[in-house]
Amino acid sequence: METRTILCLVLFFATFLQPSLSDSELCHPDDKKVLLEIKKSFNDPDIFVSWDPKTDCCNWTFITCDDNNRVGELTVVDVDCDLVGPIPPEVGDLPYLLLLAFIDCPNLTGTIPPAIAKLNNLQGLGFRNTNISGPIPEFIGDFKDLLILDLGDNCFSGQIPNTIGSLPNLFALNLSFNHFSGPIPGSFEQATSDLSWNSFKFDFSNAVFPKFLFFLDISHNRIFGSLPQGLTDLYLSYFDVGYNKLSGEIPQGGKLQSFGPWPYRRNKGLCGDPLPPCKSIRQVGFI
Ligand SMILES: *[C@@H]1O[C@H](CO)[C@@H](O)[C@H](O)[C@H]1NC(C)=O
Ligand SMILES: *[C@@H]1O[C@H](CO)[C@@H](O)[C@H](O)[C@H]1NC(C)=O
Ligand SMILES: *[C@@H]1O[C@H](CO)[C@@H](O)[C@H](O)[C@H]1NC(C)=O
Ligand SMILES: *[C@@H]1O[C@H](CO)[C@@H](O)[C@H](O)[C@H]1NC(C)=O
Repeated sequence: METRTILCLVLFFATFLQPSLSDSELCHPDDKKVLLEIKKSFNDPDIFVSWDPKTDCCNWTFITCDDNNRVGELTVVDVDCDLVGPIPPEVGDLPYLLLLAFIDCPNLTGTIPPAIAKLNNLQGLGFRNTNISGPIPEFIGDFKDLLILDLGDNCFSGQIPNTIGSLPNLFALNLSFNHFSGPIPGSFEQATSDLSWNSFKFDFSNAVFPKFLFFLDISHNRIFGSLPQGLTDLYLSYFDVGYNKLSGEIPQGGKLQSFGPWPYRRNKGLCGDPLPPCKSIRQVGFI
C-alpha cells in the first residue's frame, strides 16, 4: 500500500480542483501573500522555486486552486529534504484549503501547530514520513468533513484522541509507524453504532461519503488494551493493528476474521479466531 492512500487522495482531489488554464493572474491575493510567507519561513527552499511572486500562484508546484481560484490543496512532497524546521502557523490562513499534506519531509519537525485548527473545512490531512512529533491535537475532532487522516510514519505519540472515533465522514485512518500508546478509543464503537447500510453511497460531487471507516492502519505503535467490539460494525477493506501491545479476545464478526491472522501479528496478548483460541479462565486458573 505504501503511499497509495495518499496518492489516491491527491488524485481524487485533483479531479475536482481544476488548475486554471488561463494565462492571466487568477490566484487570490490573500492566498498568494500567505504562500509567500510560508516560503519565507522555510528560508526560500529550492523546492519552492516556482513560487515566484510575479506568476500566478494557482500554477505553482504543490498548489491546486478550486473553481473560485482559492487555494484548495497544498501537498508538499520534499524528495530533496529541503524543508527544515516546523510547519509555519501561516498554513492556517488558507481558509479554502480542503487538502493539506506534507509527504517525505524528514527535516520537518515540531508539532502540529494550533493554527491548523482554523482549517476546519479540511477533507484530507496527511503527514507521511516527516519528523513531526507530539500528540494528535484534540481539535482534529472538529474537522467534521475530514475523509482521510493519514499520519503514517512520523514521530507522533500520546493517546489517540477519542474525538477521532466520532468524525462522521472519516473513511481512511492511518496512524501506523508512530509512538502512539494507550488503548484504541472506545469511541470507534459509538461512531459506528447508528450505522445503516442505506448510507453506503459514493457521491464525490457532493462529497457525501459513507459513515464507514474503510482503511484502518494503526500498526507499529505501542497501543495496548483490547480491540473494541465496534470494529465489527466497520466495512473494512484494509485493516492492520500489527506490532502493538494489544490483548484480549478478538471480537467476532464483521470483517475482523476475514483477513486471516496477518493484521494481528506481533501482539502477544491477542487470541481468538483467526488466532488460536483464548485459554479460558477455567483452563488457566482451575485449581
Ligand atoms: C500507512 O502508512 C504507512 C507508513 O507510511 C504505510 O507503510 C502503510 O502502507 C499505510 N497504510 C495504508 C493502508 O495505506
Ligand atoms: C505554468 O507554469 C509553467 C512552467 O512552470 C509555464 O510553462 C506555464 O506557461 C504556466 N502557465 C500559466 C497559465 O501561467
Ligand atoms: C528526527 O527526530 C529524532 C528524534 O525524534 C531526532 O533524533 C532526529 O535528529 C530528527 N531528525 C531530523 C532530520 O531532524
Ligand atoms: C535533512 O535530512 C537529511 C536526511 O534525513 C540529513 O542528512 C540532513 O542533514 C538534514 N538537513 C538539515 C539542514 O537538517
